[in-house]
Amino acid sequence: AFVSLRQLLDHAAEHAYGVPAFNINNLEQIHAIMEAAEETRSPVILQASAGARKYAGEAYLRHMVLAAVEQHPDLPVVLHQDHGASPAVCVQAIRSGFTSVMMDGSLREDAKTPASYDYNLEVTRRVCEMAHAVGVSVEGELGCLGSLETGQAGEEDGVGAEGTLSHDMMLTDPVQARDFVARTGVDALAIAIGTSHGAYKFTREPTGDILAIDRIAEIHAAVPDTHLVMHGSSSVPQEWLAIIREHGGDLKETYGVPVEEIRRGIAHGVRKVNIDTDIRLAMTGAMRRAFAQERSEFDPRKALLAAKKAARGICRERFEAFGCAGHA
Ligand code: G3H
Ligand code: 13P
Ligand code: NA
Ligand code: ZN
Repeated sequence: AFVSLRQLLDHAAEHAYGVPAFNINNLEQIHAIMEAAEETRSPVILQASAGARKYAGEAYLRHMVLAAVEQHPDLPVVLHQDHGASPAVCVQAIRSGFTSVMMDGSLREDAKTPASYDYNLEVTRRVCEMAHAVGVSVEGELGCLGSLETGQAGEEDGVGAEGTLSHDMMLTDPVQARDFVARTGVDALAIAIGTSHGAYKFTREPTGDILAIDRIAEIHAAVPDTHLVMHGSSSVPQEWLAIIREHGGDLKETYGVPVEEIRRGIAHGVRKVNIDTDIRLAMTGAMRRAFAQERSEFDPRKALLAAKKAARGICRERFEAFGCAGHA
């Protein structure tokens, strides 16, 4: 059944686990997530970006998710708008049946330019007012995702700020977080601690100077009743990078957020963990391998099934590692 993000994360907080929030764009990804959740008895957060709604079409996306809930009536499911760039986008998502929306006011409506604190406060407060009136939860964001190594938002694939960010902008300030939460009423808060979107997060295995997991505890202490969200939380599995390269792919050396660091984040108060890239890497690796190994095959379902299985494996591992398994 559909539930709000607030309901789902209140349970996670009570039982000290984290919930992976997986991005969805198509049928195979939805299948993979729901099957893994069923196998591990985990609560589900399906999140769709503006790009996903453009790719699948709003009605298709909505009906695929309705089908998932119908197939798995006893699993709690949140349908969440990822990175809403304006109040209008959030209203559209609410009308479309989403049970949770992210108002990302850390960036201007172009989703590229860092926004002022006052702008962020104003748009997020407005969305909270509208969404809460109809029982929909709201995630806000304070701070800009970006690499503490390079000062870049880390965007090869066009999500996030453009250009160079200051060190301060890339680390959420606990004092400001307290003010932001008090003045907006957000249910969940995305924080900046050195992660960034996409496959190119770190040029080496991250250590404390470039991935500020300890900052989470300080933010959690400042806003104990608001659920913290870690974006850019793909682990970028070296196995899948190797499979992609083995079958003709060209990906540079890169490192993600180790699962062990995410577990530390959860211990410090993170409740929602956003993952998109790992599913993309696993599906791409599985499809490249399937096409290379079965060169006379022309039924696309074979490669898509391999992709779904690979994605399901990622989902299962994250549900288990984050302590989510068994809580549905
Ligand atoms: O936050 C970004 C997600 O990975 C979604 O990316 O805009 O390419 O769908 P997208
Ligand atoms: P990744 O690119 O690390 O998977 O992050 C996804 C995300 O934060 C979606 O909002
Ligand atoms: Na989000
Ligand atoms: Zn994100």
